[in-house]
Amino acid sequence: MSDRIYIFDTTLRDGEQSPGASMNAGEKIRLAIQLEKLGVDILEAGFPAASKGDFDAVSLIAGKVQKMEVAALARTGRDDIDRAWQAIQHAAKPRIHTFIATSDIHMKYKLDMTRDQVIDATVDAVKYARSFTDRVEFSAEDGSRSDRDFLCRVFEAAIDAGATTINLPDTVGYAIPEEFSDLVKYVMAHTPNIHKAVLSVHCHNDLGLATANTLAAINAGARQAEVTINGIGERAGNTSLEEVVMALNTRPNFLPVTTNIQTEYIYPTSRLVSMISGILVQPNKAIVGANAFAHEAGIHQDGVLKNPMTYEIMSPETIGLSTNKLVLGKHSGRHALRSHLKNLGYDLTDEELKLMFIKFKDLADKKKMLVDEDLEALVTESILRTDDIFHLEYLHVICGNTVLPMASIKISINGRSIQGADYGNGPIDATYNTISKLAGTKPELLRFSVSALTGGTDSQGEVTVRLRENGLVALGRGSDPDIITASAKAFVNGLNRLEYLKANPIQASQVL
Ligand code: KIV
Ligand code: ZN
Repeated sequence: MSDRIYIFDTTLRDGEQSPGASMNAGEKIRLAIQLEKLGVDILEAGFPAASKGDFDAVSLIAGKVQKMEVAALARTGRDDIDRAWQAIQHAAKPRIHTFIATSDIHMKYKLDMTRDQVIDATVDAVKYARSFTDRVEFSAEDGSRSDRDFLCRVFEAAIDAGATTINLPDTVGYAIPEEFSDLVKYVMAHTPNIHKAVLSVHCHNDLGLATANTLAAINAGARQAEVTINGIGERAGNTSLEEVVMALNTRPNFLPVTTNIQTEYIYPTSRLVSMISGILVQPNKAIVGANAFAHEAGIHQDGVLKNPMTYEIMSPETIGLSTNKLVLGKHSGRHALRSHLKNLGYDLTDEELKLMFIKFKDLADKKKMLVDEDLEALVTESILRTDDIFHLEYLHVICGNTVLPMASIKISINGRSIQGADYGNGPIDATYNTISKLAGTKPELLRFSVSALTGGTDSQGEVTVRLRENGLVALGRGSDPDIITASAKAFVNGLNRLEYLKANPIQASQVL
């Protein structure tokens, strides 16, 4: 058996199904380019039948990506498969990924189909997909809760029909590592033609076991791992790419397999996903969390100074996290900015660099030293959100313990400027009331959080908001040395994301 593990990244499909994590087409393309650099083998770009926005994004990505296979998800119906193919037909290496549920509970209550009908639908879908491309993946949704022998029958039929990859999902994150490993072995032993396909696994993290289950499956013989950056995805998320890859790299004696991942791009990719999805990485998250390489206890610090391997099982540099952060200041030139951004994974065009340089000088006037996080926040705000409807142009807030908090604000809506003022319980309330009045929309503020991007009192404040309007939920993010301005930017970003959702009403999460 080959010792090569194929990494199938579904950040843009299952990851985008995280509540409020919708990304616009420009952001998706930027992430796809970054994932190619990272060394992902197969990129699941989206679910084209879910919405026109999804279709367009998948098709744009298919035209950009060269080295990775580009997969499009489709249910077993021919309409879905047609849409998937139309979206990826120009890709250098197109893959159709079709799926149907195989557990009794899903077949009875969700599909209202018998086992034989599910097998017929599988065979028809795989054969139809094969009429377009030689790369066809079949997934048995809720596979881990399916009857084992029926699962093997479905897989055998799918491979006979032409499936080249067979995926076994733990859709509801229910499996336990030993059990999942046993299931993989069972499938391999009882699916007679399994050697003709690559066996894949796709785990969800409802019990916090997605990475453990994926590693157990790899040890049992699976050769494709379906993962997302930062583990984002439906509910508790998916298996995280960085955890699987670093476990394989760090423990080769127990896991003697290899991937094509260039680990030094892990950290920049994680930051990019966090920035564009608006989903913050928890500080104690393995590999990419802010504390993953921070040593607090004196004994630990002492040990690490004497020899890092006393408390570090991998070096931060391996994942592209430089402990020796280069800083830029207001005297830094355009060239330094370009090369610094390039190191962080942002290859900007001349036009983008010009815009970034203006914003950079502006921020450097307020904050003496700019570190990676500052630059990333600037890129997200200045470059990755070009098709925004609302822009914050001007903000003036009066507050204190003896005055009624009051905000005067100018925003532009599709390029047309409008200004006004309002008051509130506090400066942020006044700001949000004013922006809502100007924008003509007042979404419910479900969450508001503020944190410091870096250490020090001159740190930029980073604000995240969660907004809800007519059942749609969107996240917004903003950063600035002034936390009221950061709050206003986050609110405006959230409004833009709500507009994006309104324009793309059927998100994949509502269809699956
Ligand atoms: O979790 C799941 O079962 C899925 C399938 C579509 C592969 O995402
Ligand atoms: Zn999934």
